[in-house]
Amino acid sequence: MTPSITPANPARPDFVGVVAGVDLSQPVDAATAAAIDAGMDRFGVLVFHGQRLTDPQQIAFSRHFGELELATGDLAQGEQRRLPMEVNDISNLQRDGSVMPREDRKRLFSLGNMLWHSDSSFKPTPAKYSLLSARVLPTGPGGNTEFADMRAAWDTLPSDEQALVRDLVCEHSQIYSRGVLGFTDFTPEERLKWAPVPQRLVRRHPVTKRLSLFLSAHAGGILGWPVPEARALLRDLNEHATQRERVHAHVWQPDDLVIWDNRSTMHRARRYDATQVRELRRTTVADVAPTLEQAA
Ligand code: OGA
Ligand code: MN
Repeated sequence: MTPSITPANPARPDFVGVVAGVDLSQPVDAATAAAIDAGMDRFGVLVFHGQRLTDPQQIAFSRHFGELELATGDLAQGEQRRLPMEVNDISNLQRDGSVMPREDRKRLFSLGNMLWHSDSSFKPTPAKYSLLSARVLPTGPGGNTEFADMRAAWDTLPSDEQALVRDLVCEHSQIYSRGVLGFTDFTPEERLKWAPVPQRLVRRHPVTKRLSLFLSAHAGGILGWPVPEARALLRDLNEHATQRERVHAHVWQPDDLVIWDNRSTMHRARRYDATQVRELRRTTVADVAPTLEQAA
């Protein structure tokens, strides 16, 4: 059966769809995967309710959309990891299952997710899709994930601004995004591993051909521009892109799976009571090439 997809908000018929009629714990056939992919092209973000997934089920479903990234952007590596390398640990849990203390280095690093970003824009080839599965949610308010439509951000940019930014290339690094929050506690190895990578500021979606602004908290400079001028422009663009009419707040329910297209959206986590467990797990489909190697 082909899944049905309806807009989450009828006032925004092309941003955020809700999918019904598919069980992602079961193998999905090629026609169903293609229907979901077409939904991604249209909506940029898809929400699936009631999907209780194991890690292998989440990984198997994610592979329909391309090669998976490994979680090399996580602070915890090797022995410190709780999860398989294909799964990003989006939780506040330690290896023994207890909640991280307030000062935990991994926790403070993960607060970078509260800044508007596009996943893995700090990697030479950034992310295509992210698939985030809600396993345990805090009771009480907060902890939403918000999404901004970067196609709409481009479309609504005044034409002189479009001309100004059209061919700019930004430098992206996790060292920069964490620095915005005052997190500077990196080892020399981490600084080397996360050295800045170039990304186009304006990119074209390979299927829909729509242009979008490729912003992210990781963007800390523009090639050829003085740093303060670059950061001032990037701030302005971020402000434009994240106006409320272009933002959707996803309020998590247990067993939700949300997929977003990092090429055409930004997202951020919202604050919650960090003494409670919040456990989500993310698989990430890699894009096919660095943005500079893709058609402008
Ligand atoms: C992510 C992310 C936001 C959240 O998983 O990439 O940014 O709300 N998560 O946890
Ligand atoms: Mn993210």
